[in-house]
Order: sequence, then structure tokens, then C-alpha cells
Amino acid sequence: MPYYMDDSLSKNELQSFLKNLGIVHLGMALIAFVFAYFLSNYITKSLTRISEKIKTTKLNKENAKIDIEKTPMEVSILIDSYNAMIDDLENSAIIPVHLYGHVAYMEEIMEIAKKNHLEIIEDASQSLGSKFKGKHSGTFSHLGCFSMYAAKVMTAGEGGAIVTDDKKLFEKLKQIRNHGLSKHHITSKFGLNLRLPEINAAIAKIQMKKLPTFLRQRKKNAQILTELLQNHDIILPKERKNEVMNWYLYTVALKQRDKIMNKLNSAGIGAAVYYNPSIHQTPYYKTKKTLTTTEWASHHVISLPIHPKVKKSDLLKIKKILSAYRN
Ligand SMILES: Cc1ncc(COP(=O)(O)O)c(C=O)c1O
Repeated sequence: MPYYMDDSLSKNELQSFLKNLGIVHLGMALIAFVFAYFLSNYITKSLTRISEKIKTTKLNKENAKIDIEKTPMEVSILIDSYNAMIDDLENSAIIPVHLYGHVAYMEEIMEIAKKNHLEIIEDASQSLGSKFKGKHSGTFSHLGCFSMYAAKVMTAGEGGAIVTDDKKLFEKLKQIRNHGLSKHHITSKFGLNLRLPEINAAIAKIQMKKLPTFLRQRKKNAQILTELLQNHDIILPKERKNEVMNWYLYTVALKQRDKIMNKLNSAGIGAAVYYNPSIHQTPYYKTKKTLTTTEWASHHVISLPIHPKVKKSDLLKIKKILSAYRN
């Protein structure tokens, strides 16, 4: 999230929306700096967005250079929701990713964090609107980070939001986003220009009002696709007990993934693979670690489009193509 929402936005629609999520204070900034202030070592998963890891670099406070101090320790994931396996979590901080709109196993993660005095930073980039036991993703811990990149459930064009219930952190984030200035020309901590342009804020304000409708349309498309794809030898996404998904992505696992994706794409269906290769296999973050389930997922999952512009006829086209590959 390279930008934050400016105060004029946070005072009105956006703030009231996020307050409805149960958030007292609202701060917005680049994830990187939040991570940098808390973490020297942390865990996250490899099946996620690469930028998240670039952001989890450690800042050298003296000369404001960005150094990679440590690489993250990747964790295994579960096959039902591509969420992190709880047993793998032990380190100094945890960055759960609410991937594809599934809510991470926050109750378990929070228990581990508490026991081991770990910070939690939720990556809710893909899960705005997803809930578990009525609580919104991004609001389980003191920090939740949302992306409003163009492809997300709502967009600012570029940008995002960090929500916090910690007043001190809120003030810190506001400083970091503005060159570390506490007062005019007084630099009291590291910062950059991370301000969200007004034009992006204006887009977000309008999008925010439409969000409930967007989420309803996504859910409807997900339900139709689930009905259409029953008995296709495909692992379909489903909400676990007490979970409400925002249906950002309808991610299925199947055989012959690449062939099917080519077929779908040639038919004008914007199906996509998130993420192949997974981060621990990319040149910059390459590790010798084997993450069996992550690697399996990166070769078998495909995300089918269910965004509000997708029509029933598109979903039927998807079913037809997938049926042709039925075992
Ligand atoms: C899981 C996840 N984390 C982080 C990001 C980065 O968000 P942004 O591009 O808004 O900085 C994304 C965006 O694609 C994402 O999906």
C-alpha cells in the first residue's frame, strides 16, 4: 500500500465505515513502516503477494536506507483455505494473510502470539468485508492492512488503509506517512511521502458506498459457481463455520490447471493463478526450504472471476470449459 488516505477522507465516509468495523482510531500508511518498527524477525506465508515481503524489510533508522535484514520464515498452509498451519507458528511476529478472502485462523494465531509475546499484523489486503464470528478481518489485532489496488473488492486506483485501535500507533503512522514530521519542519522519526493523492481518495469515497452491493454480487456469483461446479473433481472454496467471506477470489484446486487456464483465457474468461511461483521460489527470496502444500497449491489452484461484472452466462461458460476436463 504505497499511500494512505488523507485526513479529509478519514473524517467522513471512510472513517465512519471503518468505525463500523469496530475500529476506534484510524491510521493509514505504508505497511512497510509498520512492520519495520516492530519487527526484526517474523513469519508469514509464501503463497501470497510478493510486495508484502518487500515491505517487510527492516529500516535502518540512522540513514533511512532500507536493508533486508532477515528473510521471513515461511509457514506451511492448510489445504482447505490456503491458510497458515497453526503448528508452524513460532517466531517473533506473525503476519497472517487473509488469503483469497478467507479469514485466517485468528483465534489460534492470537493464542500463540499471546503465549510467545508476538506482535500480529493482519494482511487484510484481500479480505475487506470478510468476517469470523461477526468480527471483520483486519480488526482482530492492533493493526490491519487493507489494499485498495484496482483489482480488489473496492479500489482507490492505488492505495490502501491501515486500521488500528492503538492511539499511539495511530499518531506514529500519521507521522511516518508525512516524512516523519511531528510539526512543520520538525523531523522526529523516519518517514517518507506516503500520502494518498486526493484523486485516489475521491475514488475510494465513492467505492466505499458501493462496497455492500459489490460484496452481495460477489457472493451471489460464488453461490452460482458452487452449484455449477459440484461433482467436477475440483476442490471448491467454502466458508468454514462462523466465517463470512468477501469472495474476493473464487479459488479452486484442480488437475490440468494450466491447460484449463489457457482454455478459459482464450474464451475471454479472466481466470488467473495467484501465486506461481510462490515467494520462497522467486529469485529474490529463494530459500532451500520445501513447502509441500504451498508448492502443491501454486501448481494446482486457479482463481475464477466472480466480480460484480461477471454474468451468469460467463459462469456457464466456465462450467462448460471445466466440464470438458472432468475426469
Ligand atoms: C495478500 C496481499 N498482500 C499485500 C498486497 C499488496 O497490496 P498493495 O499492492 O496495495 O500494496 C496485496 C495486493 O495485491 C495482496 O493481495
